[in-house]
Amino acid sequence: DKSTAHALDSYLSVQNVSSPPDDPLAFNPNRKSTTGTLTFLDGKTVNYRSYEVIYYVANVADSAYQYLNVYIPESAYTNNSKTPVFFRTYVGGYFSSKAQAPVNTDASGRALQEGYVVVIPGARGWNANVTKPDASTVYTGRAPAGIVDLKAAIRYLRHNDAVMAGDAERIITDGTSAGGAMSSLLGATGNHPAYEPYLQALGAAQARDDVFATVAYCPIIDLDHADMVYEWLYSGTNTGVRSLSSAQAAISNELAAQFPAYQKSLGLKMPDGTPLTADNYRDYIKSFLIKSAQKAKDAGADMPANSGVKLNTGFRGSPGEFVVNIDLDTYLNYVVGKTPLKTPPAFDKMGTLGPDATPENQVFGDVTGKPTNYTDFSLRKATGNPVATVDKTISDRVYLMNPMNFIGDTKATSTKNWYIRHGASDRDTGFPIPINLYTKLINKGYEVDFALPWNRPHSGDYNLDDVFSWMDKVVK
Ligand code: DHB
Repeated sequence: DKSTAHALDSYLSVQNVSSPPDDPLAFNPNRKSTTGTLTFLDGKTVNYRSYEVIYYVANVADSAYQYLNVYIPESAYTNNSKTPVFFRTYVGGYFSSKAQAPVNTDASGRALQEGYVVVIPGARGWNANVTKPDASTVYTGRAPAGIVDLKAAIRYLRHNDAVMAGDAERIITDGTSAGGAMSSLLGATGNHPAYEPYLQALGAAQARDDVFATVAYCPIIDLDHADMVYEWLYSGTNTGVRSLSSAQAAISNELAAQFPAYQKSLGLKMPDGTPLTADNYRDYIKSFLIKSAQKAKDAGADMPANSGVKLNTGFRGSPGEFVVNIDLDTYLNYVVGKTPLKTPPAFDKMGTLGPDATPENQVFGDVTGKPTNYTDFSLRKATGNPVATVDKTISDRVYLMNPMNFIGDTKATSTKNWYIRHGASDRDTGFPIPINLYTKLINKGYEVDFALPWNRPHSGDYNLDDVFSWMDKVVK
């Protein structure tokens, strides 16, 4: 398209480089870099070279997003072809996200400081739109555009591995929330043919798109089952701190009742081999929370009485040092007391989808900008048709946005190295969502460093010492 070609031309002329005619996705090794310095809060600095605004697809649909930035720390100026790559997406809320520079407040800056080549890709999200010559608006970033863009960026790096800094065979992805979903999709779906038509339409490089390792904070995944998981988990708060109308309570109960069959259908096993079902799931959640509380206690945290944490009896009847149990309903009310829950259904809103549409309704919406229902449950409630089913054109896209579908799929090359965190106070999705991800991964034989960090709300890139020591261990 002409405007895209023009944007690329003017970009290239500004950069004073010419694109080789035979390969529009060749990185020009003679391209001039820019230098910069990132200063940290403790006064330390890291010098870097950068290459910014590198378009990673040949057929750019939205020139605001489909490019990546590369930052090379001074420690990697020479001999950098074997330096691992830290690939950080800033997708949040399933919105579009721009490529940007590393910052001193998250893992991107820390990665530079630790000697990683840092790549920050942009990606289209639900709000990406372009105005056509006839003045109509086209939303090009509806699912699966975001993950397709990120896979195209990975392919670009691999396509140009010989001439770019960093080792494309050791890319570590990182993201938080919807970005955690993207990071786990990158980790799970490597080279899967289901994405191929989308990648071809964009003119993505013909290269593999599997990655070496995946870091995911509070991944908002399994969107097609997240509503039932949420209501099942929090049902005990419906008569506690959550306030629901009787109609909402009825929806909550209906959704919660769907969880046991779904959980059974996953066929997951706990690490000791016991089948994981709705019947033993609460104890399974408790096992992660007890570990988390113990770690926090050992680090000096107080366990508030209303958290449901039970300590042993210590010296002369004082509270002991050991977390021996946790009352789950008390604990869940404690979580909800900090951040009120989403109303049911938490993700796929029913009824007329207007300004209250969720990011999920939006990301599965259509190219004209209309949000949509994407689960049979909410569609049936919205239409009043008790046998309505989501159109296959939508459910196929929902499938591509769920990493759970690709773990164990022999057509995918999933990374074997995973670091997954979901805050123990994070109620943006239900605990079984990240726990099922962890469990499916270990059931398929992958290595997963997983925890629900104590008192941690919906957030990412925390405990950087911990995640970087994990990264160093897996890449070295
Ligand atoms: C994000 C948070 C949500 O609660 C959600 O439903 C989707 C995305 C986010 O922070 O990216």
